[in-house]
Amino acid sequence: MVQLAIRQLAAVDRGAVVDVINTAARWYGEFLPAQDLHDPEMTVAEWDAEARRMTWYGGFLDGVLVGVMGLEYARDAALLRHAYILPDYQRHGIGLRLAEHLEDVARRERAARGLRRLVVGTYARDYKARGALENAGYRLSADSAAVLRDYYAIPEDRACASVTYEKPV
Ligand SMILES: CC(C)(COP(=O)(O)OP(=O)(O)OC[C@H]1O[C@@H](n2cnc3c(N)ncnc32)[C@H](O)[C@@H]1OP(=O)(O)O)[C@@H](O)C(=O)NCCC(=O)NCCS
Repeated sequence: MVQLAIRQLAAVDRGAVVDVINTAARWYGEFLPAQDLHDPEMTVAEWDAEARRMTWYGGFLDGVLVGVMGLEYARDAALLRHAYILPDYQRHGIGLRLAEHLEDVARRERAARGLRRLVVGTYARDYKARGALENAGYRLSADSAAVLRDYYAIPEDRACASVTYEKPV
């Protein structure tokens, strides 16, 4: 995956970003009950709101956006959020490359922000994300409910269905 170019995303990218998110998130339909599915997963307005709290990064192949991920700081944690790779490009190491890029950014901020942990939340039934996280060296948090409560502001239905993974910064 040598040609992957990673850069910070801006408002001008938002249309392409929500396309990637909403295409990749269709996979949630394989394990979420219909009433818990959000379709679309994210609107442009929601992306704008998220972009006020976090920095978005995109992975490009030949100038085409194929994957996205957000980096948000919360107290002593760097949260890797909204990881979405287009289905045709999954399992080619792009998620790992994006995660490593965000981890490097967080490491450079470690002292200034007093960061101690990298944290990622995912649906408990999202075996793709869980496998990718374990491959990337993350371990299931001892108390996911406490981590979700302490670091995230997400709807109750999503929190109940989620787990968190972490590793030291
Ligand atoms: C989860 C996701 C971001 C991982 O990105 P990726 O680029 O596919 O992952 P990588 O290529 O870096 O890592 C590969 C690992 O991910 C897991 N994985 C990715 N796609 C998978 C699939 N279709 N089936 C099973 N495992 C899969 C496996 O553990 C795989 O390792 P393996 O090939 O040795 O078994 C991506 O699959 C995705 O966008 N999924 C749909 C949306 C989603 O679930 N997002 C998570 C939000 S927290």
